[in-house]
Amino acid sequence: MSHYGYVSEQLLTGRLWPPRRRRPKPEPEPPRLDVDRMRSHFDFAGTGRVVTNNAATSQTPRELIELFRELSPRYESVHRGQSTASRRITEEFEESFDTIATWLNAPSRRCIATYRNTTEAINAVMYSLLTEFRDGDNVVTTLMEHNSNFVPWYALSREILPRLGRRVECRVVRFDHETGELDLDHLAELVDDRTKLVCVTGASNFLGTKPPLHRIRRIADESGYRRGDGRSGSLLLVDAAQLAPTSVIDVIALDVDYLAFSFHKVLAPFGVGVLYAREPLLQGSLPFLYGGDMIAEGRVSPDLVEYGDLPWKYAAGTPNVLGVIASAQALRLLVDLALDPDEPWFGTARPLPRTHVESAMTLVSSHVRSLTDAALRRALAIPGVQVYGPGPDVSRSPLVAFTVRGRDSRQVASALDEHRVEARAGCHCATLAHLDLKLNPPASCRLSFAAYTSHEDVDRAFTALERVVGAR
Ligand SMILES: Cc1ncc(COP(=O)(O)O)c(C=O)c1O
Repeated sequence: MSHYGYVSEQLLTGRLWPPRRRRPKPEPEPPRLDVDRMRSHFDFAGTGRVVTNNAATSQTPRELIELFRELSPRYESVHRGQSTASRRITEEFEESFDTIATWLNAPSRRCIATYRNTTEAINAVMYSLLTEFRDGDNVVTTLMEHNSNFVPWYALSREILPRLGRRVECRVVRFDHETGELDLDHLAELVDDRTKLVCVTGASNFLGTKPPLHRIRRIADESGYRRGDGRSGSLLLVDAAQLAPTSVIDVIALDVDYLAFSFHKVLAPFGVGVLYAREPLLQGSLPFLYGGDMIAEGRVSPDLVEYGDLPWKYAAGTPNVLGVIASAQALRLLVDLALDPDEPWFGTARPLPRTHVESAMTLVSSHVRSLTDAALRRALAIPGVQVYGPGPDVSRSPLVAFTVRGRDSRQVASALDEHRVEARAGCHCATLAHLDLKLNPPASCRLSFAAYTSHEDVDRAFTALERVVGAR
């Protein structure tokens, strides 16, 4: 009997009728970040603090503090000696650049320079490009920038280049006051064939907006600006200070020319910032700082100085050796805390697979997104609370910035502190956006989250806010 004949016989005899319902397979649960496991590595978690000022600085896990102690018996400077200690610390320092490169999906350590923080990294770009600006060029930035990505461009165009007899304009793109989105039409209007550089935040530290970097890249590419190398298009710098802590960053996919962030927002101790730049740009530009360690070995004479190979051309002076090692280890630890692998990446120099970085940061980013959605919904439901930036259900920085009608934001933050909720009030260095929104005084209150923030933290923070504003 054919297969069909068998089926029709079964149908006739009723053995297949009514058709047996297959129980729908339960949707596999998307993997979730184990926040309790994550928190167990941080001392603050046992103190009752509701740490919600993470956009300013993140907490440091115990392992990284211990790492300094572990490094102390073999403490040495880098590139400066023949001792085993010196060679070993140099190796660890240099390997740290590989870890950072993998984290960003940069082609190699040659594209990575370390500075003190995002601010210094952006200044490094400004000083490196200083001599390349031509009379009549312009820089385009936005009203939603942190002052770190506006003031250097202001200073370049209003203070530094005029003294050298060059006129360079700094143009500033608007944002939509209702949605917090960057006005891309305005951006396209301001970018023209004299735009050398477009400087934009990857994620705002006040509005929470994440501007669409791919579209901005296209606008920059199509500017018609003639570069010195004969190519056309404007350079693109992304301030990733608020992107790095909780997002997957892929500099190749983003196709950025420069990207800067600070490690003190990514679990590491204070003192290390990163500049990623395309290799030909680093190769062709003048360094920001000059001195020891950045020169080619023995290639200094009164008439000729030759610089070291990348990335060391951009590493003048004794670097923050322990800080850089701890920062790269912070990235490894973050992967461990998110993925709980059988063999930890922390404390090793094993090449960190890019796929692990992506999986870890995807977990972190969906965790903070669910926190932020919950936080926004609570904030929007409180009478008298005005929330800034995009609403829930969009990809945004993990923070909520708000004002309370008739209340001073600093006073609201102090009142929250009485409930052990650590909000931050002020303009968060996003002065332009506060003034543009006509906030007087230019201040808002901000609650910001990190990978280790729990839903209970969000609940405690908003219950406290409801009490402070009298909604409970
Ligand atoms: C978006 C943004 N850019 C730049 C910075 C400056 O970072 P740093 O003070 O580490 O230089 C911050 C710090 O809050 C920031 O949020």
